Amino acid sequence: MLTEQPPTKGIVLAGGRNLRLHPVTVSVSKQLLPVYDKPMVYYPLTTLMLGGVRDVLLVSTPRDTPRLEELLGDGSQWGMQIRYAVQHEPRGIPDAFIVGRDFIGASPVALILGDNVFFGSELSQKTRDAIESNRGATVFTYPVKDPRQFGVLEVDAQGKPVDIQEKPHQPKSNLAVTGMYVYDNNVVEIAESLAPSGRGETEITDVNRAYLLRGQLDAVQFGRGMAWLDTGTPESLLDASLFVQTIEHRQGFKIACPEEVAWRMGWISDDALAGLANGYRGRPYGDYLEALLDEGAPATDGYAN
Ligand code: G1P
Repeated sequence: MLTEQPPTKGIVLAGGRNLRLHPVTVSVSKQLLPVYDKPMVYYPLTTLMLGGVRDVLLVSTPRDTPRLEELLGDGSQWGMQIRYAVQHEPRGIPDAFIVGRDFIGASPVALILGDNVFFGSELSQKTRDAIESNRGATVFTYPVKDPRQFGVLEVDAQGKPVDIQEKPHQPKSNLAVTGMYVYDNNVVEIAESLAPSGRGETEITDVNRAYLLRGQLDAVQFGRGMAWLDTGTPESLLDASLFVQTIEHRQGFKIACPEEVAWRMGWISDDALAGLANGYRGRPYGDYLEALLDEGAPATDGYAN
């Protein structure tokens, strides 16, 4: 008999010292900075939501966790459950699975880095499909001009992963491994077995290589119609803001609005959305939420982000 898989849980990793943004991030977490009109963390959080993930753990620093909690609460306002865990030292991305061990329990888990901004019509469906069909590990790749600053995936003619390297000097492909990953429950054990790399932290690429060696690493390729943006430097943060501004002004839709995503996913009612809109009454964000209600019943079909 097939045993039913528990729903996939989500982790947003919002830690780190963000030295490249100093002095901006001397006293505030990068993930709380604005990407145009919303805090950065809304973007990865809504990406998980679009993938159908309702139970999320925020992992952050002792300093920033209370601020993130002040912003996001317990998630019930969006029909979700959001919990918090503190990472005392930046020990690498896989450490999120160790910090989040109790939260993960026996579930599969999707991890997204708190500074990764994804946008595009493929996002929702591909993320949801990957979460539903994951059979070990799934990474999402994106073609970039200069892959040397990322994890890089080499695939065969069928798109199956054959090699994965962290920040290679001579990349074997242009496929950057983005900061979103889906894993089965073995990821906790794999994370615990890792040794730190040369930069003194464990590497998510080593987790992915462990799955590759087991023949259990799959890759979903995001194409040229998608945007995957960096936010780690003053230039890239500004570029991301300008990108979001351009799309939002042109179309009138907001990117990464958790109230809207929750409503379109059917996780909150019209009345609940009206209540959230009321909290921002008289301000553009509230006007936007209120206008959504004039549309009538939420339609998830064709909804990107
Ligand atoms: C990390 C990962 C890298 C991945 C990148 C995506 O890099 O190690 O494999 O491509 O995130 O944002 P870092 O930001 O730690 O340099």
